[in-house]
Amino acid sequence: MTRAVILSGFGGPDVLTVADVDPGQPGPRQIRVSVRYAGVGPTDLALRSGHLKAFGVAPGSVLGFEAAGVVDAVGAAVTDVAPGDEVAVYLPGLGGYAQSVIAGHWVPKPPSVSWADAAALPASGEAAVRVLRLLGVTAGETLLILGGAGAVGTIATQLATAAGVRVVAAVREDDADATARLGATPVDYAKPLREIVPSVDAVLDASGRSDLAAAVELAGGARRVITLSDPRGPQLGVTLSGPDLERATDAVATAMAALADGSLTLRPSTAMPLSEAAAAHAGLESGALRTKIVLTV
Ligand SMILES: NC(=O)c1ccc[n+]([C@@H]2O[C@H](COP(=O)([O-])OP(=O)(O)OC[C@H]3O[C@@H](n4cnc5c(N)ncnc54)[C@H](OP(=O)(O)O)[C@@H]3O)[C@@H](O)[C@H]2O)c1
Repeated sequence: MTRAVILSGFGGPDVLTVADVDPGQPGPRQIRVSVRYAGVGPTDLALRSGHLKAFGVAPGSVLGFEAAGVVDAVGAAVTDVAPGDEVAVYLPGLGGYAQSVIAGHWVPKPPSVSWADAAALPASGEAAVRVLRLLGVTAGETLLILGGAGAVGTIATQLATAAGVRVVAAVREDDADATARLGATPVDYAKPLREIVPSVDAVLDASGRSDLAAAVELAGGARRVITLSDPRGPQLGVTLSGPDLERATDAVATAMAALADGSLTLRPSTAMPLSEAAAAHAGLESGALRTKIVLTV
C-alpha cells in the first residue's frame, strides 16, 4: 500500500483526504515511480469541485497530471528506463498526488533540472508544445497568448519567441515586467482586447476566461485560435484542445530539453507537503497562492 491524496467526493478542498491505496503493478508498457514531487494545476481544481466531468474522475480517484521521481518497477516491454532512474511523468490518467504512481508517459529527468521543475513541467509543457504545433506558428508571425503569465503561457511564450515568433501576451498588469523579460509584448488583460491588440496570426487561449470572440476577430477567423479550457470555444468555431496521447511523451521531451539547455525557465514554484494538498487547492482557489504548487512526497 502507498499513501495518496484521494477525492472523497466532489466539492471544496476538504474533499481531498489522505488514504492508503494500492498502486498496483505496471503493465507491459508502463513504469511504477516512487514520487518525489507532484505538480498541482488548475484542471485538478476543476475536477475536484465537480465543475469539470472528465478523465474518468470519481470518488476514490487520485488527482495529479504530473510528477517526478525514481523508477521502482518497469513493465516487460520497457527498455529505455530501469529501476533507480530519475524521471518526470505525464499522467493523463491522473494519480500524481501519491507516494507511488503507475505511468505510461515518461522522460528522463536531466541532472541539471530540479525535482520541483521536473514535476511542474509535464502537463503544461505537453499542452504548450502541442498547441504551438497545432497552430503552426512560424518565424515572423504574431501569436496572441491569453493567460501569458500562467504555467502554459510562460512556456509557450518562451518556445515561440525562441522560434522567432512575435508574442503578444495578455496578462495581469503586475505580471507585465516578468512577461516582457520572457520576450513577449505584455498587454493588460483587464482592458478590452479589441482596443489593445493589433491583428494577429494566431491565438492560444491559456486562460479559459478571456474574450474569445474578440480573439477570433483579431485572428481573422477561428481557424488558428485554440483554447485549452474555455467551453464556449466550439460555439465560436474555436478548437478546444485536449491531450494528444500519441505525441505526449515527445512533447514533454521537447519542453524538458529546453529546460535542460536553459532556453526555458519555469515560473517559480512553491513546495508544500503532500498532506497539505487541500490547503494548496484552497490557496490557489482564493488567489492567496499565485505561484505554481508542487507537492513534496
Ligand atoms: N486542455 C488541456 O490539455 C490543458 C492542459 C493544461 C492546462 N489546461 C488548462 O489551461 C488553462 C491554463 O493552465 P495553466 O496551468 O497555465 O494555469 P495558470 O498557471 O493558472 O495560468 C492561467 C493564467 O490565466 C490568467 N488569466 C486569468 N484571467 C485572465 C483573462 N481574463 N485574460 C488573460 N489571462 C487571464 C491568470 O492570471 P491571474 O493569475 O492574474 O488570474 C493566469 O496567469 C487552465 O484553464 C487549465 O485548466 C488545459
